[in-house]
Amino acid sequence: MKPYVYIAHPIPSDVEAYIAEHCEYRIWNDENKKVPKDQLKEELLSADGAILTGYDVDEPLLADAENLKVVSTVSVGYDHFDTSALKKHNVYGTHTPHVLDETVADLIFGLVLSGGRRIAELHEYVKGAHWGLEPDRAFYGYDIHQRTLGLIGMGRIGEKVAKRARFGFDMDIRYYNRSRKLEMEEKYDAVRLELDDLLKEADFVVLIVPLTEATHHLIGERELQLMKSSAVLVNGARGPVVDENAVVQALKEETIFSAALDVFEKEPLPKDHPLLSLRNVTLTPHIGSATRKTDEAMMMRAAENMVQGVFGDTPQNVIKE
Ligand code: DGY
Repeated sequence: MKPYVYIAHPIPSDVEAYIAEHCEYRIWNDENKKVPKDQLKEELLSADGAILTGYDVDEPLLADAENLKVVSTVSVGYDHFDTSALKKHNVYGTHTPHVLDETVADLIFGLVLSGGRRIAELHEYVKGAHWGLEPDRAFYGYDIHQRTLGLIGMGRIGEKVAKRARFGFDMDIRYYNRSRKLEMEEKYDAVRLELDDLLKEADFVVLIVPLTEATHHLIGERELQLMKSSAVLVNGARGPVVDENAVVQALKEETIFSAALDVFEKEPLPKDHPLLSLRNVTLTPHIGSATRKTDEAMMMRAAENMVQGVFGDTPQNVIKE
């Protein structure tokens, strides 16, 4: 008998065909609604594996899922997984690193460009048929090339951002990371700094760290005050890495130049969120990895990880914690 797996969101047909080759399965096909918590718990009672992107995978969900061997997420971030609970229940957690690195770095670089040159703000201006109402000078921003990029996090995606900045835009690279990355220092002339020094030096502060207890609100009021008034804050990591209220305040008071954010403390961003009424922001809907090609590659990788796990193999992208 084939193992049984549950997939809690729609997937492309080739990924479904791959799963069907190996497993019996059920898929939740409503793109606009998540599986209700109780129903999800019920679905997992007999499942050997699951793909649960964006769902909290915690003790209550796992407690009665006796057959479960593996839970995959179609994302590199896995802050929605309680890794101790997975360990306790002997369930592999898997994610999808590598396949999305260049794609996320592309979007982050787009945010850098928009934050410095005010692309989102100018887009609104032209769309609103206001062009010509103000002197051009009112829209001048800051150069990107030959300026200083401060990367908070120098992992796989951080490296791809550094590559774009160094070789595409002749920027100086500073980074803050737990460990030194000698190879990056050599490849990109990157210099490791303490966080406060990076915040004081960088023209663009780019966050690309996982969300953990240590990185929760890593950037708050104090840190924002250390940044230059011409600096741009870019968040391509997870919303709670910054204290959003403090960012709103800094943008209102113009103690930093702008913020370009792909991720938020609450997603989707609430309709009355103060960020929505600010001029000096670029906002995208947590879409860093989501190009058609990369999304499909991530889905397939998540499915492969799940199939490996249900057949008792160690999945290739098991979360090691
Ligand atoms: C990830 O893969 O973690 C990206 O943030 C998209 O969810």
